[in-house]
Amino acid sequence: MNAAIRGVARTAFAHGLRVKGVRYGYEGLMQGNIYEMNVSSVADVIQKGGTFLGSARSESFHTKEGQKKAVTILHRFGVDGLVVMGGDGSMKGAKALADLGIPTAAVPCTIDNDLGYTQFTVGFHTAVETVIESIGRLRDTSDSHARANIIQVMGHNCGDLALYSGLAGGAESIVVPEHTYSVDEIINRINRGRKRGKRHHIIVVSEGVVDVYQLRDAIEAGTGVETKLTILGHVQRGGSPSFTDASLGSILGAYAAEQLMKGETAVAVGVNGKDVFAIPITEAVNQPHEFNEKLYELTLILSA
Ligand code: F6P
Repeated sequence: MNAAIRGVARTAFAHGLRVKGVRYGYEGLMQGNIYEMNVSSVADVIQKGGTFLGSARSESFHTKEGQKKAVTILHRFGVDGLVVMGGDGSMKGAKALADLGIPTAAVPCTIDNDLGYTQFTVGFHTAVETVIESIGRLRDTSDSHARANIIQVMGHNCGDLALYSGLAGGAESIVVPEHTYSVDEIINRINRGRKRGKRHHIIVVSEGVVDVYQLRDAIEAGTGVETKLTILGHVQRGGSPSFTDASLGSILGAYAAEQLMKGETAVAVGVNGKDVFAIPITEAVNQPHEFNEKLYELTLILSA
């Protein structure tokens, strides 16, 4: 996200605009936690994880009063346009502010990659890299001790983090919310692998799909293979961005600033291959995320 903030700020400065930073998201905005930035405010942030502006979940912003308060504050600080970064909740907030007369542009930032309108969200690639690195480490002991390892990853109802990390990390089984899963199939895969001398078995599981403790017990009962469980948790959310995320953040941040300068409002920016585009936020948040079935099928073939 820092790359995206830098992309917005440096693009605006290059056009002679003034830029203010809002600390702690909508919550900070309602409290007037806003400060004047200069070119150096975004120096040395591009490779830092998290967001130097801070983040917060806000209940009160989602009320009409909260949104009106935010608009009053933005007028008080002389803000002519606002770039919002986050997932669909943040985008809906940006649309609400646009409806109240504040021009807004939204940048998709979430490790979940659960926004249907854009191929990738800022943060997703870095989280995938973190999971792949963890799979590699876990496979080492899995192989040494001839164990199975379950790794539960985040994703918030979206299987992309499990799918892409499972594919690139060579997992034997992937459990995602978009598919019914079969414990028997997982057990069969482990037993088949054992027969041909395989010593490691990696099972990547999206959060919220299955009780991973019960899954571990079922696998041990069905295979006799000692099975370890790792809930990866918030390490997936931090760390220096991958090259793809630092680039995507820079490109989408700059593009969002350009949209506001062109007079657009209530738009969400996104990417599809080489194309960078902007569409109405309403369309963006209503486009359901399409799970990549072909990739899922490929993982089944490759992990045989
Ligand atoms: O939406 C991003 C995400 O990391 C999800 O993958 C996860 O379910 C959730 O946020 C965790 O939220 P929190 O940091 O509030 O525990």
